[in-house]
Amino acid sequence: MRSVAVANQKGGVGKTTTAIHLAHGLALSGRRVALIDLDPQGNATLAIQSMGLDEAAGESGAEGVFALLRRVSGELWLLPSSGSSRNLGPDTKLDTRGLVRLSAELEKGGFEWLVVDCPPRMDHWGWAGLQLCQEVLIPVQAEFLAMQGLSQMLRTLEQAQAQFPGHGELMGVLVTMVDQRHPIARDVVQDLRQNLGPKVFESLIFRDMQLVEAASHGKTIFEYNLFCKGALAYADFVREVVHGRTSTR
Ligand SMILES: Nc1ncnc2c1ncn2[C@@H]1O[C@H](COP(=O)(O)OP(=O)(O)OP(=O)(O)O)[C@@H](O)[C@H]1O
Ligand SMILES: [Mg+2]
Repeated sequence: MRSVAVANQKGGVGKTTTAIHLAHGLALSGRRVALIDLDPQGNATLAIQSMGLDEAAGESGAEGVFALLRRVSGELWLLPSSGSSRNLGPDTKLDTRGLVRLSAELEKGGFEWLVVDCPPRMDHWGWAGLQLCQEVLIPVQAEFLAMQGLSQMLRTLEQAQAQFPGHGELMGVLVTMVDQRHPIARDVVQDLRQNLGPKVFESLIFRDMQLVEAASHGKTIFEYNLFCKGALAYADFVREVVHGRTSTR
């Protein structure tokens, strides 16, 4: 099972949007995917809540961690945020060991991908995301000084790699909210590529209000409007994750 934490200490850079579209995109390509909403704000849970979360929890007769999972759509499963549960508040103590056990059980249960949406802080929850996953995907907003903002996160990854061997490897940096009319986006991408080379995904996520609308309707863009700029960009990104770079770009 490949496991990836979508993380960046900076807020509002597109972590949740990226996590739900990576997870749903992989599921649409036939992979069995578990998405864990590790942010007590529960944004990922809310952003896909209209896609089938209200169905019976897990598979009938499911036990242990599988009883906590909700089937969202097809092969996409969600472990909702504890903050979004009626019984648990955002202050609920985090059971990191339970989460690590859960990851092992998911693998035994035939899951091929685990995608974790992390909060914009390296608190217990953020740290648990790095501990759970072998790889880390960092969304970075296409804006002035993007590279400086990224350095803090890269230092955090080094700490995670030292503390949890085999975890916290940089899968890549994804540039989000790219405004094509703005020349700064091109400079940001160039700067990131100079510093990180092939670790910067070729796919760029363009700014598209349809992504905001989709989330407000509780759906991914793949359900809401498959042919808008945002959907095409995320589909491109998922293809790059699965098949690697294409030389046509
Ligand atoms: N490509 C995009 N184009 C336009 N709006 C976007 C795009 N990506 C994300 N957004 C919007 O920007 C806001 C922040 O995005 P998102 O919630 O994914 O970021 P985040 O990093 O998870 O935030 P937080 O740090 O609060 O968890 C949301 O309203 C989202 O709908
Ligand atoms: Mg978020």
